[in-house]
Amino acid sequence: MNKRIRKAIFPVGGLGVRFLPATKALPKEMLPVVDRPLIQYAVDEARDSGIEEFIFVTGRGKTAIENHFDYSFELLQTLKDRNMKEEIDAMLALSPNPGQIAYVRQQEPLGLGHAVWCARHLIGDEPFAVILADDLILAETPCLRQMLDVFEEMGGNILATMEVPHEHTSRYGIVDADLSPKSLRKIKGLIEKPKKGNAPSNIAIIGRYILLPEIFNELGKKKVGEGGEIQLTDALSSLIGTQPFYGLDFSGKRFDCGVKLGYLEANIAFALERQDLGPSLRKVLTNYGF
Ligand code: UTP
Repeated sequence: MNKRIRKAIFPVGGLGVRFLPATKALPKEMLPVVDRPLIQYAVDEARDSGIEEFIFVTGRGKTAIENHFDYSFELLQTLKDRNMKEEIDAMLALSPNPGQIAYVRQQEPLGLGHAVWCARHLIGDEPFAVILADDLILAETPCLRQMLDVFEEMGGNILATMEVPHEHTSRYGIVDADLSPKSLRKIKGLIEKPKKGNAPSNIAIIGRYILLPEIFNELGKKKVGEGGEIQLTDALSSLIGTQPFYGLDFSGKRFDCGVKLGYLEANIAFALERQDLGPSLRKVLTNYGF
């Protein structure tokens, strides 16, 4: 079994309804946290973890993402004319190297499972990673790197997991696993957005996955699940028992940037971490009674 993960899928084909009207003309993944779009954090996390091929599953109205990772000749020329060296370096560092990014189109937003399936020909027969840009993670070691370390040792499918309040389990994919206080758990079952009282645990899957290529056969069955969408969790669930599945409670803090409160909190947390902004933001926050 190949234990090297080279490719990551970034599904960015969703509508971002919960963030309207901001997402009417702007892809949700382009919303900035401090001064970088969410998708930039996701790509940087993958790069810092050793990923070499970046596959975006895009949809209608998402061209801003392609433009963001493009070489912007006019902008660079203007920065050069103005002798803005720091800004030029920052612009050049944004993108993976030429040929490392590929885009595939999800013609209809039929769900996360469908988005992943759309990338099947670009992945081929090897294990791969999936990163959801709206799950932003502040961590010393990138979350995906932590997962790759586990994969390189154990193999199998690795899902990033975290404990959530019991009253929130209906918002997540939830795992059935033993509840010992270990950070790595063998998964026995998975359920997408369980109804109240049906959750097997309060351990939720968040937007980082390492998957084996057999998932594409399951996704190809296009079974419609919760919310009328083709769910990744459902396809994973049908493979349990045939392949190993592990949940890794990663070290770090996750922010749900697909909802307003999580997005606002991420902006504060990431700004407080920055040397150029942290001290002055702290002062500003005291004006609001914090
Ligand atoms: P979400 O469940 O957050 O859906 O998708 P969404 O459409 O982006 O947002 P809401 O629910 O309408 O507010 C999680 C990730 O999966 C991608 C999204 O772009 C997001 O990065 N996705 C979702 C797709 O690529 N295609 C889909 O059909 C659905």
